[in-house]
Amino acid sequence: MIQLFSPAKINLFLRVVSKRQDGFHNLSSVLQTISLGDFISIQIHPDQSCSQDLLTCTDPSLPIDSSNLVLKATNLFRKKTGIKTVFKIHLEKNIPCQAGLGGGSSNAATTLWACNQLTHSQVADETLGDWSAEIGSDIPFFFSLGTAHCTGRGEFVQQVPMPTLSQICIIKPHKISLSTPEVFKNFKFESALDEGNAKHDLNNFLSSSSTYFNDLEKTACSLKPELNQIKNNIQECGFKTVMMTGTGSAFVCLGNGTPPSSQNFDSFQVRPICRAPSTWYQHP
Ligand code: C5P
Repeated sequence: MIQLFSPAKINLFLRVVSKRQDGFHNLSSVLQTISLGDFISIQIHPDQSCSQDLLTCTDPSLPIDSSNLVLKATNLFRKKTGIKTVFKIHLEKNIPCQAGLGGGSSNAATTLWACNQLTHSQVADETLGDWSAEIGSDIPFFFSLGTAHCTGRGEFVQQVPMPTLSQICIIKPHKISLSTPEVFKNFKFESALDEGNAKHDLNNFLSSSSTYFNDLEKTACSLKPELNQIKNNIQECGFKTVMMTGTGSAFVCLGNGTPPSSQNFDSFQVRPICRAPSTWYQHP
């Protein structure tokens, strides 16, 4: 059996570049893995006569059927490799769901990596990343080393240097969850954007004067207007930057602030993490 850390991600900037014919959006975003994460214990099922994987989870509200990205990942692995092995998996869930923290995507990437290890299949990480785009746009990112500029619908992943961010606080409002398709469906372009602008964002980010923003935040806040007040409250706590991650509803807070004490949200002090080639992410 192996136990792997499955880290959350944050978007340090997220630009929506264009809407595509297939309904997806082209994005330009720098993503970063962080020290908040789930744990996945996975083994080859001791009874290989079972026709299905067995998934258990500490969070009873999560489906443990084939709609769970963990099981989408094992099914994808078998489809791509032709291997028939079934797995027994336990997911210890710490990453809030529907928060924009990529919990499900990270679980899928971690499971694919584990299946490859357990079956000694020696599929390259890059190939696992390419395969994973079939089951979710954010999954290929996790096969980078932890900091990457992602384009297309998220599946084109280019490693960039890890930014120096000492203090990161994640704030997840209770009972406010946002669905990714819903946020994208309601997104409206404010002005036409050209490729040059998208490049400029990355260059700007990589320069010493990094700018942090999320084009989807306005849409998320229009779908859940309570988020505006929450953001105002957090901004009064001394943080230099407060912005939503992904399609929300969690906020990334940068700088020396103290999260407001409230029963209405959870806060997590985290830091960026990375992995070395040929190993998976480790809990720091
Ligand atoms: O790929 P994933 O399953 O995460 O996407 C969920 C939904 O979010 C898609 O069906 C699509 O409606 C929307 N989406 C999008 N553009 C992206 C990623 C997701 O419009 N780049």
